[in-house]
Amino acid sequence: MHDSRQFALVMPAPGGLHIMLETRSATRLVDLWDDAKAATMSESERLLYRSNLLGSDKRITNYGGGNTSAKVMETDPLSGRQVEVLWVKGSGGDVGTIRRDGFATLYMEKLEALKKLYRGVAHEDEMVGYLPHCTFNLNPRAASIDTPLHAYVPRNHVDHMHPDAVIAIAAAKDSKALTKHIYGDEIGWLPWKRPGFELGLWLEKFARENPKAVGVVLESHGLFTWADTAKDCYETTIRIINRAIEFFEAEGRGKAAFGGEVVRALPANERRVIAAKLMPAIRGMISAKERKVGHFDDQAAVLDFVGSRDMRRLAALGTSCPDHFLRTKISPLVVDFDPAEPDMDRTLAALPAALEAYRKGHAAYYERCKRGDSPPMRDPNAVVYLVPGVGMITFAKDKATARISGEFYVNAINVMRGASTVSDYMGLPEQEAFDIEYWQLEEAKLQRLPKPKPLAGQVALVTGGAGGIGRATAQRLLADGACVVLADIDEAALASAEADLGTSAGKDFVRAVTLDVTREDAVIAGFAETAVEFGGIDILVSNAGLASSAPIEETTLTLWNRNMDILATGYFLVSREAFRMFRAQKIGGNVVFVASKNGLAASPNAAAYCTAKAAEIHLARCLALEGAEAQIRVNVVNPDAVLRGSKIWTGEWKEQRAAAYKMSTDDLEEHYRSRSMLKRSVFPEDIAEAIYFFASDMSAKSTGNIINVDAGNAQSFTR
Ligand code: NAI
Repeated sequence: MHDSRQFALVMPAPGGLHIMLETRSATRLVDLWDDAKAATMSESERLLYRSNLLGSDKRITNYGGGNTSAKVMETDPLSGRQVEVLWVKGSGGDVGTIRRDGFATLYMEKLEALKKLYRGVAHEDEMVGYLPHCTFNLNPRAASIDTPLHAYVPRNHVDHMHPDAVIAIAAAKDSKALTKHIYGDEIGWLPWKRPGFELGLWLEKFARENPKAVGVVLESHGLFTWADTAKDCYETTIRIINRAIEFFEAEGRGKAAFGGEVVRALPANERRVIAAKLMPAIRGMISAKERKVGHFDDQAAVLDFVGSRDMRRLAALGTSCPDHFLRTKISPLVVDFDPAEPDMDRTLAALPAALEAYRKGHAAYYERCKRGDSPPMRDPNAVVYLVPGVGMITFAKDKATARISGEFYVNAINVMRGASTVSDYMGLPEQEAFDIEYWQLEEAKLQRLPKPKPLAGQVALVTGGAGGIGRATAQRLLADGACVVLADIDEAALASAEADLGTSAGKDFVRAVTLDVTREDAVIAGFAETAVEFGGIDILVSNAGLASSAPIEETTLTLWNRNMDILATGYFLVSREAFRMFRAQKIGGNVVFVASKNGLAASPNAAAYCTAKAAEIHLARCLALEGAEAQIRVNVVNPDAVLRGSKIWTGEWKEQRAAAYKMSTDDLEEHYRSRSMLKRSVFPEDIAEAIYFFASDMSAKSTGNIINVDAGNAQSFTR
């Protein structure tokens, strides 16, 4: 049964690459079913339980991939009769995180009736329009195009998963023979067919004609398994996937994957240095119409692939599972870089032509394959960039999509590893791939997506991001879709800000870097980190600061220098790095300085602070002048007396200010409020709103400007 020699085996190559199939764990999937837990559940709850168990392990299915179903007897709300209802994962969900309301519910009787309306495969897309007519109990969850695949299998419980190990079988040249070899008659095999009504009928026919079979491998796609109980179905799915994992482990033992290593990976820190240079350059070249966010991945599976002999050949064949290439585009772009003789200038100089060639290639593919009713060509840029010896860079319209696209390409790598170890790996025929990528139903899904937020795809770095104004600013930018890097010297405050903002805005959107804005090396490293984490930068909010108070005779040189270092020099260093990255991207940029009313208006006993703040304001004007030709805008927000949330106002400064005005610290807030022309207190959110105005396109035609957010102060009127 396990005589693998009947398959064309790839000869082992020296170099000892990792040979196991990702998840690369030698252990099998574990059966996590808990009888005691499941016993108290209704049938639909058991479906949810099973789905979440399956989706919790990425070896079983990729993010958003696959679906699960159960046919359950329910009480019809109108007739009170018992009717059979299909519970099936709704459109667009993820089985790992799905909740009960993520399932669509449909009358089985009506789904059966659809067969009479079916006019044949040429018209199968119209069947999707009938699915809402089958809805049970006014459930608003839309049924997915995979619904017929579950409905017509004559078993109560059906799992459809995308395990890398099984897709490796499905994407092998002789996948039918492999399936038979590994599973005997237990699992059948069906040739590639785009998911839809026809495939549902194929599955039904197979299941009826093979009552002993427990599932099917779908060529170039994935796995179907079924059973009469939820537990049985779950355990069957686990068992069948484990068998594939075992098979590939045995076959891969002692063999180097992908023809062996020809390019040695650079050490981890050097990989990040290269990525930090490449990512802003690539980002600039693909963000003309829509800003892209990047993701960098250099896990072992990726390094094996990008350093291998067969990488270019396999990459060119394209990904096979539709789920994969819908996220990754059919093939990646291989960046011309040789870690043995690194020459970044040459690599960067070659990028424009390589990216243009990729775009032309996509346009030609579109022209070759398009049909009369195909939607217009989408963004022709590559999503996945493979860099020998360094890793994989992915770009998409937001961070989560970029990260998930990378995860999908890792799935594709695993599939190519498995398939090419035991056979030849096969991509989908080009026209089939096109018909999925530019499918009307897929296009309709894209059209239904909500409009992107105003700062979607933009990356902001906020210095002093762990402080009062910095944190409020980060929150404001995140609310409108930006990715934010919090940069601060205070590690503890930074960790808490990152955790809080990550919880409210989503972990993908927030990063933290510890840095001292007065240290040149730290600032350079912080920007490099930003480039690797998000791909580049669009917005710099220079805000890290302090406040100090002393009469001039008592102002020590140390105090003077401290103000100059953090406020004047710190603002210079971060702006310079931002400018360098803006210029590498060539798509403009946006700098907002948080200065102070005191930069315009003199204040008693604060000469060092006021002078340094004035320096910031003038630096902003100089940079506005210098940056304009490159569409880099530089503007200033001047706060005043923002006591709430500010760390400045918890220390000495508060006492010194109270002393300067000859009052108690408790009276300060009221003093500032009543001193203002509008008689209002100023809060961090008010400053954040003004920063947002300058950071967004709302002020697209303003540079070199100042907004005071001080509730009105005649002394600081700009002129
Ligand atoms: P804050 O003290 O709450 O926040 C400032 C942040 O900057 C802190 O998290 C601190 O750790 C960080 N920081 C200090 N030195 C740093 C360095 N060398 N490198 C990196 N990070 C450093 O103060 P707040 O109120 O949020 O102030 C933000 C900015 O607003 C400052 O530039 C301040 O001068 C300015 N401002 C504040 C006013 C107020 O009333 N709160 C009024 C006028 C201006």
